[in-house]
Amino acid sequence: MANVITYGTFDLFHIGHLRLLQRAKALGGENGTLTVVVSSDRFNWVEKHKKCAIPDLQRAEIVGALKCVDKVLFENSWEQKRQDVIDNKIDIFVMGEDWKGKFDFLKDLCEVVYLPRTPDISSTELKEQLQG
Ligand code: CTP
Repeated sequence: MANVITYGTFDLFHIGHLRLLQRAKALGGENGTLTVVVSSDRFNWVEKHKKCAIPDLQRAEIVGALKCVDKVLFENSWEQKRQDVIDNKIDIFVMGEDWKGKFDFLKDLCEVVYLPRTPDISSTELKEQLQG
């Protein structure tokens, strides 16, 4: 049993998001928990210069309704990760492999795992496709 945490925007929730969250939950094993930290609209705009189609409260509600998700928090800064790991007694920190190596500084606190992405889908691509 392990407590797992992962971070993301989860805008225009799609199959790549679902598979990532299911695999993250499975890493925790029997009775493991999955905490998902959803990037706030403000964090996305100020730090990533990205505008979301779906407001953060709704993105968090969608993620929180999934069977594989036990707890939802908001991401408001790059610096909160160490405290989140400590506060939530996290054993495994999971990100998609687009972030490979970026969070290795947490390895003194927990295991850090990068999972392969589902090919050919992303929120950005969906937005571009809709724009024609
Ligand atoms: N993810 C994935 N497979 C995809 C898309 C996303 O495994 N095809 C994972 C990411 O690696 C991340 C999590 O889902 O760990 C949340 O990703 P997020 O950045 O919200 O989704 P993207 O669709 O990649 O969004 P964007 O295009 O805005 O970067």
